[in-house]
Amino acid sequence: MPRIVRLHATGPVKIEPGREKPLWVCACGLSKTFPFCDGSHKLTAAKEDPQRLYRYDPATLAVVSDQPEHQPPVQPTPDPTGPSHAGG
Ligand code: FES
Repeated sequence: MPRIVRLHATGPVKIEPGREKPLWVCACGLSKTFPFCDGSHKLTAAKEDPQRLYRYDPATLAVVSDQPEHQPPVQPTPDPTGPSHAGG
């Protein structure tokens, strides 16, 4: 089922699991090697205007539309009844 997810990150999240090298997890949503960053976020950081909303073609990563952003970014609110860690 297709869905649209609004993301504001323009770069990866660094995770240091105690290995020799850190892991870089995609937070922009454009990586073709998700969940790992493949550098595709450079498209967002270099070309996006924070006041506009962009839609990307998932196959080519070309911008298929952009329009003025009318809604402020949604800030996540922690749920005190939810799990405190991944995996439930
Ligand atoms: S953060 Fe998404 S590709 Fe790097």
